[in-house]
Amino acid sequence: MEFADKKLDGSRIAAEIRDEVSAEVAILTKRGVIPRLDAVLVGEDPASKVYVGSKAKTLATLGMISETHHLREDASQAELETLIDRLNADSEVDGILVQLPLPGTIDAAEIFGRIDPVRDVDGFHPENVGLLQQGRPRMVPCTPTGIMEMLRREEIEIKGRRAVVVGRSDIVGKPMAMLLLHAHATVTICHSRTRDLAEVTGQAEILIAAVGVRSLIGPEHVADGAVVVDVGMHRVTDLETVERLYPGNEKKLAAFEKRGAVLAGDVDYTRVAPKAGRITPVPGGVGPLTIAMLTANTVKAAKLRRGL
Ligand code: GUN
Repeated sequence: MEFADKKLDGSRIAAEIRDEVSAEVAILTKRGVIPRLDAVLVGEDPASKVYVGSKAKTLATLGMISETHHLREDASQAELETLIDRLNADSEVDGILVQLPLPGTIDAAEIFGRIDPVRDVDGFHPENVGLLQQGRPRMVPCTPTGIMEMLRREEIEIKGRRAVVVGRSDIVGKPMAMLLLHAHATVTICHSRTRDLAEVTGQAEILIAAVGVRSLIGPEHVADGAVVVDVGMHRVTDLETVERLYPGNEKKLAAFEKRGAVLAGDVDYTRVAPKAGRITPVPGGVGPLTIAMLTANTVKAAKLRRGL
């Protein structure tokens, strides 16, 4: 396979998904339903602000309504719960998203358990987690569904293959493993305490890196021809690291000069790409798919709530 064809182009697939969502929004709008997402942001985390802004912008582009509720960093559990209760009671609201991470003083599980499960576009409510586990998915977390959509659209076989998920978060690792299992993969979950990680990941025909450690996955972790999906997203702000991660990569260096930072994933792309069969880049891989699936989940919530 030509090197360029190896790339799993999340941006292109996300654009396809957005077009489909946009067409659905147009049909719903004709019936008097304009899907609306309310996002809740607590504090001033710069990355969270960028994500929430980007989600709102994308929804607007597709003809949906999006509201952002910004609480101070020192907002109390009670204040946040009052806001969730108010959104739950508002019949105009189709989807509710509370951006993570939340300040340490907030009990996040309590908050996600309080969101109306039918409007839980993140799929973090225990009822949605349970339905997924039972193989009766309703609202499913955006990143793992986006990855499944990409694998399906790229006609990457899952059934019977060995899939290894590195990372066991509630947002990505656990639901990802469950979706792959339901698609009949043989699934292994690795994490920070896994002994001899490379030996386990080296068995993977499909390798999902969602561990939150920059460039952890190197060529020694990857089998020849494996499909590698990189969920990591890390800002690299020093030139020395950029030059080490992307030697001779003029595009990355130019991006660094322009913005003072570049994004890197959990996978050491430069060294893994020659070995992989297919691989997602960072940026332009999983990130755009996550937002595209959020728009799809917002439409889904708007329909579910109305029995459509
Ligand atoms: N922070 C990082 N990823 C996510 C996500 O998928 N949903 C929410 N709510 N917060 C996040």
